[in-house]
Amino acid sequence: METANILVLNGPNLGVLGRREPEIYGDRSLHDLPDLVRDVMGEAAEDVHLVTYQSNSEGGLIDRLEQALDERVQGIALNAGAYTHTSLALADCLAWIDIPCVEVHLSNVWARQEPLRHTSMIAPRCVGVVSGFGLWSYAYAVLALYHLLRQEQDG
Ligand code: DQA
Repeated sequence: METANILVLNGPNLGVLGRREPEIYGDRSLHDLPDLVRDVMGEAAEDVHLVTYQSNSEGGLIDRLEQALDERVQGIALNAGAYTHTSLALADCLAWIDIPCVEVHLSNVWARQEPLRHTSMIAPRCVGVVSGFGLWSYAYAVLALYHLLRQEQDG
């Protein structure tokens, strides 16, 4: 299969992973992600080109999504952090850029206490959601996108 261009996009407070509330979000940082992707995907990981980006601002995430369209990114694993639950602007962007997106969370947002975390503005614009597996959530999202793209390619 052709190399799949996948963007791993992270929202606010996710640039400090490993240091931020490790009892909830774990003690690994995004630097560990390529190793986890290789563990989950084996040789197929060679067919994936991963680019990661993090922004603490809503506009920064939207700018990066628009850029992804120009760069012909084929799939997005998006952990929008707290913007997941509030951002109509991000949902609007996902609606038009038309790149398959998997919503990602380190924690199981439905098992968290705050009711607002049980809602997602972006989920209706995503092909699926992976939540609750720590940093592995990203690797599973990348695997899911890879299968989706392969299916599309095979027609
Ligand atoms: C999170 C869950 C969100 O509710 C929270 O605001 C985050 C991280 C997660 O990965 O579990 O910043 O997206």
